[in-house]
Amino acid sequence: DWIMGDYISEAVAKIREQVGDEEVILGLSGGVDSSVAAALIHRAIGDQLTCVFVDHGLLRLNEGDMVMDMFEGKLHAKVIRVDASELFLSKLAGVSEPEAKRKIIGGLFVDVFKAEAAKLKAGNASSKGATFLAQGTIYPDVIESGGAKSKKAVTIKSHHNVGGLPEQLGLKLLEPLRELFKDEVRELGVALGLPPEMVYRHPFPGPGLGVRILGEVKKEYADLLRRADAIFIEELRNFRDDATGKTWYDLTSQAFTVFLPVKSVGVMGDGRTYDYVVALRAVQTSDFMTADWAELPYALLKKVSGRIINEVRGINRVTYDVSSKPPATIEWE
Ligand code: XMP
Repeated sequence: DWIMGDYISEAVAKIREQVGDEEVILGLSGGVDSSVAAALIHRAIGDQLTCVFVDHGLLRLNEGDMVMDMFEGKLHAKVIRVDASELFLSKLAGVSEPEAKRKIIGGLFVDVFKAEAAKLKAGNASSKGATFLAQGTIYPDVIESGGAKSKKAVTIKSHHNVGGLPEQLGLKLLEPLRELFKDEVRELGVALGLPPEMVYRHPFPGPGLGVRILGEVKKEYADLLRRADAIFIEELRNFRDDATGKTWYDLTSQAFTVFLPVKSVGVMGDGRTYDYVVALRAVQTSDFMTADWAELPYALLKKVSGRIINEVRGINRVTYDVSSKPPATIEWE
């Protein structure tokens, strides 16, 4: 609408004024905040923006390609995709403790991003080098980093809106979403032409599938989990609630699949199987501090379990998590 149109013109003018003819680096994660920040800054300064997308190999099915299709393909933004999946997997080998996994993933993420940013800062034949680091910090992040934080909040911040990084890199900070609340960021994203499915996506933790594979992370597990999770999400988007007409994806705040590295016995055709188990998790919450498990329709659960077991060879049992927070957390790790 026109109000959002006005907002965009003002924000664009402000970014142009602040940046002038200098160059900007932005860490693109595929999440809402960094995506909207990228779209807005790109609208303002085009090729003076370079996005760095670190793919840690723990993203959802086709997620990396979708980010590239959107930002490089449709918006024609400059995006450097760093495929660091082998590095992440190798450093995670043998590590099963959840916080240790988080530290490794968060630390490596910063290292890989910093190395790429340093190259962009140095410049080359066609660039005099970047001087700004853009971040998708939104108003609630600003408040949160002022007050006391939980241990997990620190992890969240250190991963997404990397604290202290501009100083370490000697770059100036550009934070065009600093005054916006989440719903305003979403509206802005849609007004900038980002697909609503991207902008209204459930939150996804920085460590990604790293905390949805219990214990040691292995590529085999991640590949199985990605396929199972894609089926769950697809069916949540397909199934509508009769009373509200909304899809179960929109009726839940967060939904995902968890990989359990235990094997159970099953039977398929004439044979016995001995394969892995997954748990489906779907919650409803307004603040993610407390959450209720979602009363998904049995027909939906039945469809999902049938499809996962039939389509994902290697998984022969699907369970549904009926634990609320507290005392359980939303994620399993
Ligand atoms: P829990 O599991 O603590 O999750 O109930 C609450 C919300 O936080 C997300 N979460 C994370 N996000 N890095 C993130 O960026 C993390 O390490 C992390 N751990 C949990 C979780 O997905 C849920 O939305």
